Amino acid sequence: MVHKVQAVVVKEKNAPVSLETILVPDPGPGEALVDILTCGVCHTDLHYKQGGISDDYPFLLGHEATGVVSAVGPDVTEVAPGDRVILNWRAVCGECRACRKGQPQYCFNTHNATQKMTLEDGTELSPALGIGAFAEKTLVAAGQCTKVDDDVDPAAVGLLGCGVMAGIGAAINTGEVKRGESVAVIGCGGVGIAAIAGAKLAGATTIIAVDIDSAKVDLALANGATHGINSREEDPVEAIRALTGGNGADVVIEAVGRPETYKQAFYARDLAGRVVLVGVPTPEMQIELPLADVFGRGGSLKSSWYGDCLPSRDFPMLVEQYKLGRLDLDAFVSERIGLGDIEEAFTKMHDGKVLRSVVEL
Ligand code: APR
Ligand code: ZN
Ligand code: ZN
Repeated sequence: MVHKVQAVVVKEKNAPVSLETILVPDPGPGEALVDILTCGVCHTDLHYKQGGISDDYPFLLGHEATGVVSAVGPDVTEVAPGDRVILNWRAVCGECRACRKGQPQYCFNTHNATQKMTLEDGTELSPALGIGAFAEKTLVAAGQCTKVDDDVDPAAVGLLGCGVMAGIGAAINTGEVKRGESVAVIGCGGVGIAAIAGAKLAGATTIIAVDIDSAKVDLALANGATHGINSREEDPVEAIRALTGGNGADVVIEAVGRPETYKQAFYARDLAGRVVLVGVPTPEMQIELPLADVFGRGGSLKSSWYGDCLPSRDFPMLVEQYKLGRLDLDAFVSERIGLGDIEEAFTKMHDGKVLRSVVEL
């Protein structure tokens, strides 16, 4: 059977998104059909629209979602109909070098549904990050579904599917923040604020928020940061050192993606400190660093993709922390909107007016 559902599509580069009827096939082997409950609006959806990710138009947007499994194909053991799931873009293969080394969070061979969703005229759709969840139903690989408790607000926990997980994971997985450590976060958009939440969850006692926008610094202070620095007004490296006994932070998380902030993160770390790079640079960006400073201060410099998360391990654990009141995911839901409101949500996101707009279906 083929399901006809409403979905948000971008047909060509920079065209406004449109609400379309799409055709979603029943799940084949290894696939699951999911009734979407909520889906957050992420920068990556906007990048798809603008041609920054690939030219495989039309795209079916949306990838930060929760839903309920409505059907599964043959040989699916991960989930069953009726399960509440958070979708992920890291369905691991179990066979590549990373998986064999016991590091599936770096899987080189993640996969998606094999069957295609289409427009009514048969044109194949490219689902954003292999998900495509600005839709009443979507088809994914069963490994893209993680079962979680269903007694929680789906809009809040669904954000773990992308941006909020990237930030929390930068702190708890990549940075391995420990109780009592100091953490500095440069850039307090959705990802940076999530990194602050992750640092707090991990037990960091000094959490320093840095941004060029004082409204963002205030937002960070309201969401777990213990100190705020406006880096237009003072040198953030000096300020971070001053707040950490002259040393620098144990962990510095860069959540902007610019040369100057990469450099600040590098110099704001303590001796043997860890630098975590979450902000995504453009291909032409470069920085120069004296090797003596790379070598002399020791420590590590790691980039963090998807918060180095393992959905099957991290999603249920973080939902539990949310239920226990230790992780405030509600704070990230700035507004609840409909499938027809994506363009306005892109504008608000671009202007920094929201942490997350969440589509409810
Ligand atoms: N110094 C400090 N903060 C800065 C600077 C700077 N030079 N330039 C920008 N910022 C701040 C902005 O004011 C904003 O608060 O960085 C924040 C970026 O936030 P968003 O644009 O909302 O981006 P976000 O979704 O948080 O993602 C941040 O992480 O995953 C990546 O691709 C993503 O590179 C992006 C980064
Ligand atoms: Zn693998
Ligand atoms: Zn995303």
